[in-house]
Amino acid sequence: MLTVMKRIFIASRGNPEHMAQLFRAELPDHEVLTAQPQPGDAPVPYIVVGRPTPGVIRAVPGVEVVLSLNAGIEHLLASGEVPDGLPIVRLVDDGLADGMSDWVLGNALAWHRNLLVYKAQQERREWAPQQEKLARERVVTVLGAGALGAQVAGHFVRFGFQTRVWSRSGRPVEGATAFAKAALLDAVRGADILVNLLPATAETANVIDATVLAALAKGAFVINGGRGAAILDADLIAALDSGQLSGAALDVFRTEPLPADDPYWGHPKVLVSPHVAAPTHAHTAVKEMAENIRRHERGEPLTHVVDRTLGY
Ligand code: NDP
Ligand code: OXD
Repeated sequence: MLTVMKRIFIASRGNPEHMAQLFRAELPDHEVLTAQPQPGDAPVPYIVVGRPTPGVIRAVPGVEVVLSLNAGIEHLLASGEVPDGLPIVRLVDDGLADGMSDWVLGNALAWHRNLLVYKAQQERREWAPQQEKLARERVVTVLGAGALGAQVAGHFVRFGFQTRVWSRSGRPVEGATAFAKAALLDAVRGADILVNLLPATAETANVIDATVLAALAKGAFVINGGRGAAILDADLIAALDSGQLSGAALDVFRTEPLPADDPYWGHPKVLVSPHVAAPTHAHTAVKEMAENIRRHERGEPLTHVVDRTLGY
């Protein structure tokens, strides 16, 4: 009997051939396409997308699952590119979680141990030891206790920081104190380091505002690896300028690439990185996506399906 191979279309604008090879190795019984299938072609149940060109998804015949190359999918929801009822699977994999952990912890530890202060002193050939604290004397609040927030919070716990996590449901993280949605101010009060790892939704927009910043410890440090829309930029800059904050590490912005005239570029207390905190690694991403395809074909529920009502 002739078996029809299930088809996967890689609609990524990055390096689709590389990803296709990884898929072929993971799922040798599938046909992997990198050229746009046409209406009337054999069905293509799986489409892999980053930021798809408008119209690409709807033009593919027989799509059953949209597999996102990103953890954040707000652009897919906002664009209306994915027809209602079609499941969108977010990317949740250890490559993303490990990448985000490095980036957040790297920035947090550099601030905690005054490395940026010493770098500035070095430029002046100044020998001026700062008051050095122990991790256990610092409070860290992580906004978001999902795939990324939970792992990052776990690392802070292991380093000995007094760790808090804030999420919609109050999701627990071992060793950390968990706060639910209504307790935002309790979660951030007196924190020395505030980390944002929330998805961009209507509810999380502008969550880091003057009130939240004023509740932090004097001289606190803000780290944003989630999305730019979570921060009211004018309030953050005011808090940096007043000394309420001693610095910020920002990887994500309302407009990306960050416009040349944006005040963050030249701000002496701000570290800008170009949305690289947790890049997608094809080899770890494909493993996760292939596993979800196998689940779907075994008749099991997909994992990490976006809840369109919640927006993440
Ligand atoms: P998850 O969906 O796994 O976790 C989201 C967390 O946010 C959950 O704990 C959720 O609460 C919480 N949350 C959602 N809405 C609210 C709300 N209104 N109030 C309080 N908490 C809320 O996402 P990930 O951890 O996988 O990713 C987080 C985000 O990180 C992505 O959406 C993306 O924007 C960003 N990202 C950035 C990257 C970069 O390179 N800079 C790379 C990858 C991701 P609950 O647990 O109750 O559901
Ligand atoms: C993501 C991102 O959401 O790259 O995966 O920001």
